Amino acid sequence: MTESKTTLPRWSVERIRIIILAFAVTLVAGFGYPWYLATTTIHRATLPVGEINDLTTDVVKFNIPVYLNLSNASEDFIHKSQTALNTKLYSEYPGLKDFWSIELRRVIDHMDESQDYIINFNILPDKEEETFETVFVSPFSKRTDIELTNKVILSNRVEEFLCDTLMNRLFKFEISKFNDLKKGLNTDHIVFPYSSHYNLVFSLFVEDGTPVSWQSEDIIGLMNPLLQQLNHFSNFTISTQIQYYSNLNIPVEEGENLVVKQSDLSTFINYGDWNLNNNDINPTINFILYFPKATYASKSMIIENSKTNSFLIPQWGGVHIFNKKFDVYDDNDHFVIVKDELIPIFETFSSQLFQLLGLPLSDESDITSKSLLMRIDSLTRLSTYKHYTQSIQILKSLVKLTNELNEISIPEITKSFTLDALNNLKRCKDSLTLQQFNDAIIQSSQSLKNSNNAFFEKEIVQQVYFPSEHKLAVFLPLIGPICSMLTMNSIRQIKDWRSKKST
Ligand SMILES: *[C@@H]1O[C@H](CO)[C@@H](O)[C@H](O)[C@H]1NC(C)=O
Ligand SMILES: *[C@@H]1O[C@H](CO)[C@@H](O)[C@H](O)[C@H]1NC(C)=O
Ligand SMILES: *[C@@H]1O[C@H](CO)[C@@H](O)[C@H](O)[C@H]1NC(C)=O
Repeated sequence: MTESKTTLPRWSVERIRIIILAFAVTLVAGFGYPWYLATTTIHRATLPVGEINDLTTDVVKFNIPVYLNLSNASEDFIHKSQTALNTKLYSEYPGLKDFWSIELRRVIDHMDESQDYIINFNILPDKEEETFETVFVSPFSKRTDIELTNKVILSNRVEEFLCDTLMNRLFKFEISKFNDLKKGLNTDHIVFPYSSHYNLVFSLFVEDGTPVSWQSEDIIGLMNPLLQQLNHFSNFTISTQIQYYSNLNIPVEEGENLVVKQSDLSTFINYGDWNLNNNDINPTINFILYFPKATYASKSMIIENSKTNSFLIPQWGGVHIFNKKFDVYDDNDHFVIVKDELIPIFETFSSQLFQLLGLPLSDESDITSKSLLMRIDSLTRLSTYKHYTQSIQILKSLVKLTNELNEISIPEITKSFTLDALNNLKRCKDSLTLQQFNDAIIQSSQSLKNSNNAFFEKEIVQQVYFPSEHKLAVFLPLIGPICSMLTMNSIRQIKDWRSKKST
């Protein structure tokens, strides 16, 4: 080794060193430095900060048209009723002023009672001294029939009666919920957080191993008409499963029948043993039909104090304990659960689904609250407002975060989601002005989705947890050895030049 070194001419070692040095310098200056800049310079797309800071829910206004069909209603009657309604509404709920209103209009030709709120007035002949007024709300449309006698009309009580019908029957739930929302109260602990997609999983949990079957087509057939009414609210995917050997963890009182206590319902679901995992990114709403083995001993399993033998689990789903009524068997003599048995159960499941989505309940004792379309309408408007508010909160938090952490980069994609969200909010507001509530909720849901995407963009989330100081820590082990090699090389070269000069 030493031999070959001495044979090499001195200038050539020097030249090689210079070449290496030059190469290294070019590499660092021409490639390394720009690369370092490119990977560490913070790109901050300009967010529409001013526009976001100006956002307010004050521009959101709900004005619901209600059409009156009173054969010879004078404009005067509509005007007088409107005044009476506003006075009553805003004295009871001052928070709703300039925010939520009902606009009374005269009915026009070719109205569709599945689209518009229509109130028909039927005037009945007078019977002796009695005055008479009734309300009937169609369960399948948005029509309401008010029947009254001339005496009521003459005593000028029609307006009063109309106000009462609107405020305490048709829009009761919506008014009180909006009033709560305006006050910043949100008391729904049952309702699922909103998603543009939910999985509905219907499970048949069988206590023992004896085969039982049901038709998943029956289930889809029972749920679909209802879900179609909600298609402006969210998407739903239905799936079904059957699981055996689903033991209960709770004591069941044995007697003529088996009784499950109300106090044991919270531990009814055997989360440990029953396979309920669903790793989908969309929320899952569970519906469980429990098939007890007592069925084979001709006993029923009954939930204490439950008319429908079912119960609801907040933000999770619904459960029904099934007691076989019809002896229908398949070819192997195993029980089949037939559609006729499923119908009442799915009425319960539907009503549980509504509760879990935040839909006003139909109060069994009050026939006037039963219209599904009206309830869905209320859910639509309430959700629109909630999404609008949440979307603004998220966008403002994004601005706050990027202002506070100026080390954080703002990717173009975040800007793009932000602009989309702002656009959705604007279109939502326009749809509300046009009283197109189904369009409004679609825009508000999109806005919520876009603002979430903007805020939870992975680059931003990463940086909040891995600030740029960490980058240096990553680079150091690489830069260290290279730098020391170059430095050693340079020092040696300089020494060489010096020794050359002195000789
Ligand atoms: C409607 O018109 C009829 C006759 O045209 C009249 O007898 C009745 O009082 C009117 N009803 C109202 C509420 O104005
Ligand atoms: C209004 O009432 C009349 C008479 O009761 C009825 O024929 C008509 O269909 C009603 N209009 C609407 C839009 O319901
Ligand atoms: C339903 O899903 C489609 C496709 O993912 C989506 O475009 C649409 O906005 C969703 N509907 C609602 C109401 O969120």
